[in-house]
Amino acid sequence: MTTPDPDRAAAAQTFYSRWAGVYDRLARRAPGIRRLRRAAVARLDLSPGDTVVDVGCGTGANLLLLRDRVGPDGTVVGVDFAPGAVRRARALVAREGWTNVAVCRGDATRLPLDGADAVLATFLVGMLPDPAATVDGWLDGLDPSRIALLDLARSHRLPGRPLNPLFGVVVATTAPPGTRDHHDDPPARVLDRRVAGAHRTLLERCPSTSHGTRMGGFAYLSAGGR
Ligand SMILES: C[S@@+](CC[C@H](N)C(=O)[O-])C[C@H]1O[C@@H](n2cnc3c(N)ncnc32)[C@H](O)[C@@H]1O
Repeated sequence: MTTPDPDRAAAAQTFYSRWAGVYDRLARRAPGIRRLRRAAVARLDLSPGDTVVDVGCGTGANLLLLRDRVGPDGTVVGVDFAPGAVRRARALVAREGWTNVAVCRGDATRLPLDGADAVLATFLVGMLPDPAATVDGWLDGLDPSRIALLDLARSHRLPGRPLNPLFGVVVATTAPPGTRDHHDDPPARVLDRRVAGAHRTLLERCPSTSHGTRMGGFAYLSAGGR
């Protein structure tokens, strides 16, 4: 188990607060991103009236899709630890007038999930110090469990595999300081390990699961249900 490091967490919060505007554009407009988000949300198999938590919600790129699924009687809760990301997501909620969507500042590694029907985490687990333990904790709090994880990591198949060196450069240059500078391993390898740990935990713990890759093998989507 890795102990969370407050300095690195603070560095990541500052990074995502400072770059919230740029990140928001990327989160909504990067090629193929909407389709990936739609696929992840669909895997949760949400029903009208459900309560769903978007952990590490960032600037709120999943909120509309989740709200569409749970309907006006359902509840969407976004949680993020970066104040700048939370501000931006809250501004979106206020602009749209969504009364059943709330965005809270909180830590994904210490999350009370009582009353939640499902959890979504997109592009988050690669930033967590011990993703397997965190996903374990989420699953302990969810009954029955419905969870979807969407992440990027190096590709193990064609056509993506030959592009792994380029992917590694992008990860090394764009990773927030707290995830970039405390491992002897290259950041892409750290990312691979964290993503694999989180997804493996989900696949081992949930009674019914699905797993697949997209975007040339760079995007990993796993989901678990009852
Ligand atoms: C790459 S962004 C993804 C944002 C969003 N899920 C999306 O798909 O666009 C990662 C987000 O996770 C948040 N984050 C990282 N570690 C966190 C933690 N321990 N608790 C809460 N939020 C965290 C960051 O502040 C950042 O907004």
